[in-house]
Amino acid sequence: MASSIDNPLNRATQLCREDLRGVDACIRRELDSDVMMIPAIGNYIVDSGGKRLRPLLCILSARLFSYQGERHIPLSVVVEFLHTASLLHDDVVDSSGVRRGAPSANGVWGNQASVLVGDFLFSRAFEMMVADGHLEILALLSRVSNTLAEGEVLQLVRTFHLGMTEAEYLEVVESKTAILFSAAAEIGARVSEQDEEIIRRMAEYGMCLGVAFQLMDDVLDYAAEAQDVGKPVGHDLEEGKITLPLIHAMQQDPELYAIVEAVAERDGYAEGEREAVRDRVQAAGGVQRCLDAAAEYAERAKVCLPESGDPAIRQLMSDLADFSARRTH
Ligand code: IPE
Ligand code: IPE
Ligand code: MG
Ligand code: MG
Repeated sequence: MASSIDNPLNRATQLCREDLRGVDACIRRELDSDVMMIPAIGNYIVDSGGKRLRPLLCILSARLFSYQGERHIPLSVVVEFLHTASLLHDDVVDSSGVRRGAPSANGVWGNQASVLVGDFLFSRAFEMMVADGHLEILALLSRVSNTLAEGEVLQLVRTFHLGMTEAEYLEVVESKTAILFSAAAEIGARVSEQDEEIIRRMAEYGMCLGVAFQLMDDVLDYAAEAQDVGKPVGHDLEEGKITLPLIHAMQQDPELYAIVEAVAERDGYAEGEREAVRDRVQAAGGVQRCLDAAAEYAERAKVCLPESGDPAIRQLMSDLADFSARRTH
């Protein structure tokens, strides 16, 4: 697993620090509102130490093609706002009280405030897309935000769907998570006015990296400790999310399937079941299967990176794909 020292995320953050400062300043400006609860919750979540991976992908993709303008800064903020809004909503839907190692916004201000401020962020993001003034970006990001919402609903519809296939699972992953990574990488190529084939490859790079990223999120739910990931673990099944580690493990272990059926009927764990499920998912190779799948997606992401473009940035983006499939937080 990746060490925290000199990992590609840290290197990217360091390399892009000027642009990230611009992103942070833009976030502050765009959170401004006379309704004090909006900057209060907005700043709380923005200051809480997210990785800013999606803005980084957008910035790196622009730098890959030596983009000289400024559009990538507010567009990175749009992507981060869409992400932040979906986290605000997600923690309500998932009844999750911890995010980024601190009480989640719904834990502090309640569900209603989180949903409504999430809506503010979504709609502010749309104002910013219109201000950018390019129809192809507006078309891209409005399609993406619609797909994100669709992915969340699809996941809800498939709550405790024990017969979930890998293909059905991947459909949810692509639409609730990966598509936003794809958009981030695509935007950098679009503002740099690359040709359609390059744009397509950058979008595919982001999509594959995003799938790897969510696969690892789903691994960490079964393999990590809460204090390391800054959010609850062992929580996905509790919320009815049937993810790849569990899908694979249930196919190998009929007793695990029976426990999961009981969890579904009871709509929660009985005493000791959380640990039993975690142990069985690991023992049946579910975690390993998901790690392998994440590594495969990272490889797919890497081959999409076009040969043209700055070689050092290309290498860093390639390393970030690996990082997404090996991360520990
Ligand atoms: C969390 O995303 C939601 C998923 C798609 C798994 P991140 O892990 O990128 O969240 P932050 O912004 O760094 O907290
Ligand atoms: C990612 O799924 C959710 C979003 C894309 C908002 P999860 O529900 O697994 O994300 P975490 O684990 O709460 O960050
Ligand atoms: Mg969640
Ligand atoms: Mg998760």
